[in-house]
Amino acid sequence: MSADTPLSKERPNPAVDGSELIRFDRVVKRFGANTVLDELDFSVASGKHVTLIGPSGSGKTTILRLLMTLIKPDEGTIKVGGAYLTHEEKNGRLVPAGEKHVREVRKNIGMVFQQFNLFPNMKVLRNITEAPVTVLGLPKDEAEQRARDLLDLVGLGDKCDAYPTQLSGGQQQRVAIARALAMRPQVLLLDEVTSALDPELVAGVLDVLRDIAHTTDITMLCVTHEMNFARDISDQVLMFDAGRVIESGPPEKIFSDPEHERTREFLSAVL
Ligand SMILES: Nc1ncnc2c1ncn2[C@@H]1O[C@H](COP(=O)(O)OP(=O)(O)OP(=O)(O)O)[C@@H](O)[C@H]1O
Ligand SMILES: [Mg+2]
Repeated sequence: MSADTPLSKERPNPAVDGSELIRFDRVVKRFGANTVLDELDFSVASGKHVTLIGPSGSGKTTILRLLMTLIKPDEGTIKVGGAYLTHEEKNGRLVPAGEKHVREVRKNIGMVFQQFNLFPNMKVLRNITEAPVTVLGLPKDEAEQRARDLLDLVGLGDKCDAYPTQLSGGQQQRVAIARALAMRPQVLLLDEVTSALDPELVAGVLDVLRDIAHTTDITMLCVTHEMNFARDISDQVLMFDAGRVIESGPPEKIFSDPEHERTREFLSAVL
């Protein structure tokens, strides 16, 4: 990616050197008696596009919500860009992280949700500039230029002054993608971003994401039921069941010749 694209990075970045950008180490997450993640280990190399697949309720969204620090792990550690996400090292010991540390590490992560979650009272441009101005301290005119460039990238250059309710679901989701990218995260988390859309709007959103996957070096961790899309963009597919990754590999292997019966069953139900 060249220095003047909307996604170029100003902050130091492990970029696409293949180093680990995300690492889960024996992560346990329980909701009451329900152990959703059971000593989960997995990692995502920087610059890669990784897709999580698995049955409903298996914990895919939980993984993304842990990364967004919307919830905390009960045991184990998560690292992003080499830094602990919910822990800090103090005097050689690992202690729960303070809010400031969490905010700093989380700046590297952007997420697009199934339900868009745009700010309804703000015009499209302000939806995108709000966090870069308030969280990153970007000057307003710079944030607006960045927002306009990103709106062009997602094909909505003419919608700066619209309110979210004046847009179709597919357009709103493309604004949400632009909004996440405006923070220049190292990793973009995508949780079934097309599943709330009318069928005819799905392709436009997937095209934007394909474009981003193929033309930028952003790392992607994606949960999707769109298996063709997963096949197109993924470097690696992780099959997830009962709190663990049971199988992983390149999409051509997982989709055509999976090792596990459980993966075969799951794919035959969704493909
Ligand atoms: N806040 C919560 N309180 C209690 N249980 C929860 C909570 N969030 C998730 N769970 C439970 O954790 C399990 C995993 O949920 P999660 O949303 O991660 O699944 P998923 O793999 O994303 O499923 P889907 O494909 O349907 O989106 C489910 O059994 C769910 O009921
Ligand atoms: Mg989910």
